[in-house]
Amino acid sequence: MSKTVYLTTPLYYVNAAPHIGHSYTTVAADALARYERAKGREVFFLTGTDEHGQKIERAAAAAGKTPQAFVDEVVEHFHRLWTMLNISHDDFIRTTQPRHARIVQAVLLRLRDEGALTRQVYQGWYCTPDETFWTEAEVVSSGGAGGTPMCPACQRPLEPVQEDGWHLPLRAHQDWLVRFVKAHPEFVQPASRYNELASLLEQPLPEALCITRPRKRVGWGIPVPFEPEHVVYVWFDALINYISVPGYGEDPARFARLWPADVHFIGKDILRHHAVYWPIMLHALGLPDEQMPVRIVAHGWWKVGEQKMSKSRGNIVDPTIVIREVLAGQPYAADVYRYFLLREVPFGQDGSFSEEALQARLDADLANDLGNLVNRTCSMLTRYCEGRVPAGGTLGAQEDELRRAALELPAALDQAMEGLAFSAALEAIMQLVTRANRYIEAAAPWKLAKQPRDRARLEAVLRVLAEVLRVTAISLEPFMPSVAGAIWQQLGCGASPRRLADAARWPVLPAGHPIGTSAILFPKRFAATAGGPAA
Ligand code: MSP
Repeated sequence: MSKTVYLTTPLYYVNAAPHIGHSYTTVAADALARYERAKGREVFFLTGTDEHGQKIERAAAAAGKTPQAFVDEVVEHFHRLWTMLNISHDDFIRTTQPRHARIVQAVLLRLRDEGALTRQVYQGWYCTPDETFWTEAEVVSSGGAGGTPMCPACQRPLEPVQEDGWHLPLRAHQDWLVRFVKAHPEFVQPASRYNELASLLEQPLPEALCITRPRKRVGWGIPVPFEPEHVVYVWFDALINYISVPGYGEDPARFARLWPADVHFIGKDILRHHAVYWPIMLHALGLPDEQMPVRIVAHGWWKVGEQKMSKSRGNIVDPTIVIREVLAGQPYAADVYRYFLLREVPFGQDGSFSEEALQARLDADLANDLGNLVNRTCSMLTRYCEGRVPAGGTLGAQEDELRRAALELPAALDQAMEGLAFSAALEAIMQLVTRANRYIEAAAPWKLAKQPRDRARLEAVLRVLAEVLRVTAISLEPFMPSVAGAIWQQLGCGASPRRLADAARWPVLPAGHPIGTSAILFPKRFAATAGGPAA
């Protein structure tokens, strides 16, 4: 049996409700999952939540709740958001689930039994918001000698820690990791992140990573099976999800079908954890090079204006508010939001969120271009051809040019998706849409409809446009699944599947094929307001 395409998102901390940054990673992973499925491949798309550790323990205490009650409540925000955004994950792992904790404990026992762990005192610094250890040499100072030690990643104050615990050696695996990374230039993408990893590996790694924490400091974690007074370090616990769900050590057949992961989607902030700690953990477990994750793809950061989003600045963008309020009145608000995230910023670069930018994309790309094409095509088919796709006859030069542009789209889409260039993929689709709109202007079917002698040409024009809409709907499926479905309905294709292979076929719609009912996909902002535009 061929291997399933295995895609993952990070497990999000459930210390607070998700924001636009979390939704970005998940929407990107969802677009790839849907694309792979539309290519006819078997996909396993995993997401979930990271529920242990000091940060969550403190957030629960601040809310006056037990950690379990707290995480049970917060996780619901994630479930609701993924439903709202039409995320097609196949499983949702919570690190507090026994199916996960059991495997984390088995992994620890195995590593300890094989002598792969050391017991020592850790002395250094800890960033609770990032749940990350930093050595003395890595910390930065808030200014001058004697300044507050700050986290080099997030620039927040660090806490000193001195703890006796179990450690996973890092430096002992460094030579292997350097060789592995050199031999696998696709291991981390984009190239800027690969280079970041390569230069990180030019310096000696810390001797070892502390992977257990004393209960007296952190009570909320998976118990270390051979050390009752310790719990597992939250990152060590969470990373294991990627193999616990495939059934590492418990279900060899399932594990062989799923593992290794084809893409771990992450944000650039957690590159070190995924591209250094994680492969070293797998290597320490004895997994061969062929069983390392295939690609780790680190996207950029969403900011608000020029600022990082943070609770203290009060500038967190809540996707549910964007969808319900900013995009109120849009029947496909979630798809508009998905489109914006994936189209606005080339994957890998930082982006800036603003309501104006969202509105501009909605107006220009979706309402004026895509919505207009669908609306004009379907209403002309209704008006001039009794709602049926005409046979079309021989195509003229302009029709043939548009047909060729449509037939080139699948290859452009494949190339973009291979490089996870979501915005380039959407750009290619929208170029076809723009071209089709221009073609409508040039062909002016409304004029052709007035002259009986132009009937054959009118039918050729509308047939070509119907096929272009078909190709467009199929191509949009990974990015805007509901909009793709709506165009499909309007084309009268009903429940038949949208398979990418069919985007490369032409013509497909039978002559006389009845189209469905037309409806506006992206109403103009104030169109629904009785009495005209609001002041
Ligand atoms: N729990 C860890 C991950 C463990 S994976 C085994 C974690 N969680 S997190 O909730 O803090 O962040 C997870 C991811 O959310 C980040 O890697 C990134 O993908 C995304 N983002 C969080 N804030 C973001 C932005 N402001 N912009 C874009 N994405 C960001 O780290």
